[in-house]
Parts: sequence; structure tokens; C-alpha cells
Amino acid sequence: MEKAAIIVISDSASRKLRQDLSGKKILKFAEKDFDTSFEIIPDDREEIKKRLIYYSDTGKAALILTTGGTGLGPRDVTPEATSEVSDKIVPGLAELMRAETIKKTKRAALSRGICALRGRTLIINLPGSPRAVEECLSVVWDLIPHALDMIKGKGHRKLKIK
Ligand code: MTE
Repeated sequence: MEKAAIIVISDSASRKLRQDLSGKKILKFAEKDFDTSFEIIPDDREEIKKRLIYYSDTGKAALILTTGGTGLGPRDVTPEATSEVSDKIVPGLAELMRAETIKKTKRAALSRGICALRGRTLIINLPGSPRAVEECLSVVWDLIPHALDMIKGKGHRKLKIK
């Protein structure tokens, strides 16, 4: 099984002032297909970068799923931290998540999350709410195996997806 790291990015959840539900939601998606690791960190740009670098550069994760810190608040810096450690941006995945889920809620437009590669690791920023996580992952989940193959330089899979 490939490895996936789930990083909950939240000041309040990291201080245990709020229970984390979004990370648990991601875990439910990911644990059937990946060997998962899980952590909760504050909305701190340097800390976020450090963890993204750790998982990608050590090969500890082929996929990193972050949740939170994608909005417009003063402490929301997940996309900036991700962008700073990225080699390539994968705009289509973030576009797809927003384009599809905006049909359910206009608020999807308020997430600035990006998807990117650092080395051979795919990083996906998800918004912070459990509902948003569910909506966004449902849209891109079936694309991820093919994306991970492509990152490794493998050829195209016979796709069942549309
Ligand atoms: N995306 C989807 N699919 N569904 C949602 O309910 N909530 C939005 C948005 N993206 C939402 C969503 C809201 S209300 C906010 S403020 C932003 O994500 C940013 O959330 P974050 O700062 O917790 O990452």
C-alpha cells in the first residue's frame, strides 16, 4: 500500500480547543487505499512547510492531504506554505474540486486551496470543514491512483473514470 499523510491545520484543534472532525473524515476516505499517518498542527507557515517537506523528502508519503487554513482569515496560510515548497502546481485538481462543489455551495469559492507536487509527492489542500472535505474528496478520489502513477513516470491506466 502507498503511504498517505493527513495533516490537519488548525490553531484551535492543535490546542485541543476544538475536536477535529475533518481529519477523521479524510482518514475514512484514505485508510482503505493507503497506509496513513495523521497529525494536527497550528496555522503556522513555517511549521506547515516543515511537515510538507518532511513527508515528501523522506518518501514517507506519496500523497499529502491537508485540511484547513485555505480561507481568507489572517491566519489562513496553507496555500502559501504549500506553494513555497512546491516544484509544480497542479491547477486542474483544485479547479475541479471548486467547479464541482460550488454547485452545492457558493462558499466553495472562498477556499484558496491548491494542489501541487513536491518531488514525487502529491499535495492536496482541502478546506477545513468536514462537509467540504467529504464534497471535495468525493470529486477527486478516483483520479488519485492515476495521478500517483503519472508522478512515478508510469504510463496511462485504463481509466474507468469519465
Ligand atoms: N468547499 C466545499 N466544497 N464545501 C464547503 O462547505 N466551505 C467554504 C470553503 N470551501 C466549503 C468549501 C468556506 S465557508 C470557507 S471559509 C473556505 O472553504 C475556507 O475554509 P478553511 O479556511 O477552513 O480552509
